[in-house]
Amino acid sequence: MPRRIIIDTDPGQDDAVAILLALASPEEIEVLGITAVAGNVPLALTEKNARIICELAGKPETKVFAGCDAPIRRKLVTAEHVHGQAGLNGPKLPDPVMPLQDQHGVDFIIDTLRAEPAGTVTLCPLGPLTNIAQAFTRAPDIVEKVQEIVLMGGAYFEVGNITPAAEFNIYVDPEAAQIVFRSGVPITVMSLDVTHKALVTPERNNAFRALGTKVGIAVAEMTDFFERFDKEKYGSDGAPLHDPCVTAYLIRPDLFTGRHINVEIETTSELTLGMTVADWWGVTDRPRNAMFMGTIDAQEYFDLLTERLARL
Ligand code: BDR
Ligand code: CA
Repeated sequence: MPRRIIIDTDPGQDDAVAILLALASPEEIEVLGITAVAGNVPLALTEKNARIICELAGKPETKVFAGCDAPIRRKLVTAEHVHGQAGLNGPKLPDPVMPLQDQHGVDFIIDTLRAEPAGTVTLCPLGPLTNIAQAFTRAPDIVEKVQEIVLMGGAYFEVGNITPAAEFNIYVDPEAAQIVFRSGVPITVMSLDVTHKALVTPERNNAFRALGTKVGIAVAEMTDFFERFDKEKYGSDGAPLHDPCVTAYLIRPDLFTGRHINVEIETTSELTLGMTVADWWGVTDRPRNAMFMGTIDAQEYFDLLTERLARL
């Protein structure tokens, strides 16, 4: 039985690859819907980009919903400096013709969890946690029905990428992150500690390009685009490919290791806003609320991506 998931996302080139991996893996993953959120770029672009990606995958029947256009309490911070003005800069892809669903993304999350048996739907957030937190706040009855949340966000040893202390997805909506991390739902966290070990080296990107397919070439061009920024920033041989760690985990959990620990979100300090304060060394007796991942078998991860993208 495939894992039944809702992908909550702000595409973003790496979000795009995460979605493609899920849509290429029907034996392991059934995508019930994709909810867009404001993050890397504003909502009007993230919902459009999600549809562009579904069409690129040849899956225009996928349901895409627009969710929240701003964080719960704060002004939206975006990341065009990484992802480009469109959020998906790199390849030239046609505007989507598939429809955006009428329903609001938060309502879709609520209705789906209410309709499905408890413990059968996994949430996969790849952007700020606004939609998930709004759903939990408006419909507390759905919280205990969630099977698991597998998300990309946070960092401990690698600390921050948008501020010295905070990772982008958590920083953009720390109040939402706090609601989610305190919800009691089992959470698996793909932090920067993992994703900074998953670098798109030239060989790995050439493997995507060498697929010779529309998808393989588009992914290589997306990666070429956002790498220019990260390679300079980190002085590394390639940029981290963050978000596909979430969907890869659903297929190959054995590629990752981590610790089940307490993670709290900083929501008040100006200096460290959005920091994931991870009790990696177990120095408090705060309850364990997250499986916080720290390592990845990077080569197997990229091999999996290449093999699955070849199917589209
Ligand atoms: C996260 O922030 C976004 O820019 C990426 O899509 C990823 O989800 C990495 O910090
Ligand atoms: Ca993202």
